Order: sequence, then structure tokens, then C-alpha cells
Amino acid sequence: MPPSAAPSVGPQPVSSPAAPWWKSAVAYQLYPRSFMDSDGDGIGDLRGILARLDYLQWLGVDVIWICPIFDSPNDDNGYDIRDYRKILSTFGTMEDFDRLLAEVHRRGMRLILDLVLNHTSDEHPWFLESRASPDNPKRDWYIWREGRDGHPPNNWESIFRGPAWARDPATGQYYLHLFTRRQPDLDWTNPEMRAAFHDIVRWWLDKGIDGFRLDAVSHIRKMPGLPDLPNPRGLPWVPSFAMHMNVDGVLDTIGELCRETFRRYDVMTVGEANGVGPREAVEWVGSDRGRLDMIFQFEHLALWSRAPGAPLDVVALKKVLSRWQHALHGKGWNALFLENHDIPRVVSKWGDTGALWRESATALATMYFLMEGTPFIYQGQEIGMTNGVFERIEDFDDVLAKNDYAQRRLAGEEEGAIVADLVLTGRDPARTPMQWDDGPQAGFTRGRPWLAVNPNHRRINVAQQRHDPASVLNHYRRLIALRKAEPALVLGDYRLLMKDDAQIYAYQRRLDGERIAVIVNLSPRPARFDHPGVVLRHERLLLANRAVEAHPAAHALELAPYEARVYRVGKM
Ligand code: GLC
Repeated sequence: MPPSAAPSVGPQPVSSPAAPWWKSAVAYQLYPRSFMDSDGDGIGDLRGILARLDYLQWLGVDVIWICPIFDSPNDDNGYDIRDYRKILSTFGTMEDFDRLLAEVHRRGMRLILDLVLNHTSDEHPWFLESRASPDNPKRDWYIWREGRDGHPPNNWESIFRGPAWARDPATGQYYLHLFTRRQPDLDWTNPEMRAAFHDIVRWWLDKGIDGFRLDAVSHIRKMPGLPDLPNPRGLPWVPSFAMHMNVDGVLDTIGELCRETFRRYDVMTVGEANGVGPREAVEWVGSDRGRLDMIFQFEHLALWSRAPGAPLDVVALKKVLSRWQHALHGKGWNALFLENHDIPRVVSKWGDTGALWRESATALATMYFLMEGTPFIYQGQEIGMTNGVFERIEDFDDVLAKNDYAQRRLAGEEEGAIVADLVLTGRDPARTPMQWDDGPQAGFTRGRPWLAVNPNHRRINVAQQRHDPASVLNHYRRLIALRKAEPALVLGDYRLLMKDDAQIYAYQRRLDGERIAVIVNLSPRPARFDHPGVVLRHERLLLANRAVEAHPAAHALELAPYEARVYRVGKM
């Protein structure tokens, strides 16, 4: 379809100081290795993305966030950057990028990139200089320390397993790496490094991109003195989040970065902020604080990661998400998300991949999408993609999965048990190629994909869902259109209903007398919605994921498993 003929599902968001464009936007996260391959090497690329822009426009998304596309040795799939001003050759060239950006803009959409600022690749020229000698001018751009009797400087564990320090044979000193040893941490207390980094950010913003997602931004400052952690259990390395997640000073560093870069442009920023709670969030994203626009919080993700495999605790989910809604209403802004490239697919963990697959995928979608904040869709979520199939450790690509496996094997765990756990908690299950059609390799590549395509692409794919009005895809499209049509869904406040109900997630959005009720049964069993404060009229039904028969005005409803309905409501 020629781009000019692509249907638009609503007006493009406009900016005003009170309501910047990103508040009414819907964002789409794209993992470039797995989105679309144009040249048959089995790895997605920029021309592939270009070829699918009409699809994203048809869906109605406003902002595309692309995970790192910069030159990288790919120890952590691009989150280890060798050159911030160069495109990874597997993905294309800077000309391809410029064209992509122009084509995104021509379609009235916006593009944000992934800013990896906690660390670089160990092949980045800054690190090559830094490691050359203790008196190199860039030595202090990274974090170097002497060891202790042949051991690392402290007992911190890397987030990607093993010690957080690597000894460099050139000088015998150790450098800090919170992620893999090929991702040395930058020292954000160093003013020259900061200035050089600010330059990189401005360079991209001058190119005309529309903002950044800030990778692992809550880790960029470390506890002064880098002290040992208490270690009562005598572990070789102690999980060290507390020493580098949201520690004192991080807000000043982010504030400076924002002043020196983002605040000079009309762009959006969203920080990945593990360890930031709702009470402190206002310091991070408060509209009068001059820092970030939104953060991805991790609290609701912990409901799964602390007890993988357990059914969704609906009451706990309501508690967490409602806390964030209230904490930022009128003060800041939320980023709404259920999936990303680091966590398993939501329908596999909190939904049903069997008979109620479509209903559960659309119920989960409806639940989070209409809250206050900017919703993010992770590629494939909009067609209800499920976790990929991984049977042996060789099926995995992710460095974290491999490190985890090696460590657990050493501790004596069985291969089967580790793999089963990695499918539940790992990152590759959500990184399998996008399922475009039911053909070979799901239409993702003519070659051999870098990660196996899920065999269920014969059933779950874009081509099949695009023309099915009842599909997950068309449900997402309707959710997007509804958000754009109803100011209350963007700016209204949020009021939770039936907070103690163990099956139903229901809330109202209210703006200037307008009220919209979102009612979702998040369980595989029938449920009863009953709230004296709302009147539900069939003729005011705005959206549903199952056929709804005409019904008299009522304040109670029987809901089928995973049924979701959205009503415009009035008072009794
Ligand atoms: C973030 C990214 C993740 C990456 C890590 C290190 O958490 O989302 O994919 O591995 O940072 O950069």
C-alpha cells in the first residue's frame, strides 16, 4: 500500500506546555534483530523496519523506540556500544538510518533511540585508552581499583553473574562491570567523560530524533567508596543492587544530563529505573523537576520474577499499579508496559496460551492500556505472541542465560531444570522473530533466523490477524484509537474499583464530568463485577473483547473468563 494511502486511526498528537505530545502518544518498542530482515542474513535490519513502517502507522502508534542499533561487538546484543555515532553494519548504514528517520517523520510518527549510558563496550576507544595505563587521561572515565590479595576490590556480584570486577592483565588493576565483563562501567562522577557523553546525546538530537529511552539509568552512580556488602551466608559474590541502584547523587547526574541535552529540545525521555519506588518517582519525573519525562518501573515485574510460574495475583497487581497511578497523577507521568525484550511474554505468564489465548491477551491489553500514562507495546505483543520454544541450552543466545546456566551447572543443578527456569524467567523467550505470516520463518527472513522462530507462527501472525476483526491485533488497534478519541483516557484521573476482588481489575478514568470504566476479568473463571457507583448501559459500551448481548442498565455484570469491557458511565 503506498504510504499516502495508509489509513490513519486518529489525529497526530500535538504539543502544548500543559500536555506535551508524548502524553497522548502510544509507543511501540522494536527489537531490531528480530523485527524484520531485508537481506536474508537472518538478522533484522533498518531496511526491514522501513518496509514495515506502514504496518506501524496502520496500527496507530506514534512513537517507535528502537533498541540499540549502534556499532557493537554484540556481547549483549548491542547494549555494549563500540561507537555511538555509527550504525551496526549488520543493521545497515547511517544513510539507512537517515532515511528511516525521514520516513517515520513523513508518516507523522516519531523515533526514539536507546541510550546505553551506564557502560560501553570494552572495544570502545575510550576504554581502549583507559585500560592502556594507570596514567592515561581517560583512566578515570571508567572505574579502576587495585585488587585485594589477588581478589577483586570488593564482593559485589555482577547483574549478569560472577564478580562485578575483571582484572586487566595490562596493569593488574580491576575494572567494574555491573553487566558482562565486556561492558565496563563509565564513571559518571568524571566531568570530562560526562561532557563527552553529553556531546554524543546532542549529536543525535541535532539529527532530529525525538528522544531516548535511557538504559539502566538508575545504576549510573555507585555507592561512594564501593564498600563490601555484608555477607552472612559466605557467598563468593553478593547481589549488589543496593550499592548501585538509585543511590545518592544519581538524580544530580541525571539532572545535569537533562539540562545539557534533552531540555534544549522538544523530545521525550523514558528511563529504565529499576529500584525507583513510587514515592521517589516524583523526583525522577515530576513535571517541575526538569529531569526525565517518564520511567519504566519494575515493581509489577517483581510479582512474576519473585515467584515465576505462579498465577497472577490480581490484588497485588492492583495495589502496585494503583500506587504508581496515584503517586504521579498531577505531578508527573507514567510509562505503562507489560512486556519488553528482557522479560517473558505476558500471555505466557499471566494469560492462557491454550483455549483462552485470544481472550487473555486482549484482557491483559485492556487492563494496562487505558491507565494514565504513555502505553508501550513490545513488538509481537499486539498479536499475542507467546514465549519461544527452548529445549536445550544451545537454543539460547542471550549472554545472561549462558552465564546463569554455567553458574548453576557448577552448583550442581540439572540441565533440564535450568532450561525450564530460563524459559519462565529468561530474555530470549520474548526475543524470537516477529511473526508476520504463516510462511517459512514467519516472513521474518529468507535466511536462517538468529533465534528460532516460534512454530506457532502458523497460527499466530500479523497477516492472519489483520483482517480478522476479533483478533488480538485489531483489539490493540481499537484500544489505540479509543485512547486518541477520549481525552479522559489520556488526562483523566484514575480510580480503582473493587480493590479486593481477586479476579477483576476495574477502574474509572474521570475528566470534567466524563467517566469511563474499564472492567477486566483477569482470571480463567467467570467473575461478577458489582459496583453501586456506576451504571453500565449497553448503548454506552465503547470496547469489548467478546460479543456482548444487549443488556439493561445495571451496576453489576457477569463476566466470562478473561472478559474485558469498557463503558462510558454515568452516576446512578
Ligand atoms: C537493560 C537492557 C538490557 C541490557 C542491560 C545492560 O536492562 O534492557 O537488555 O542487557 O540494560 O545494558
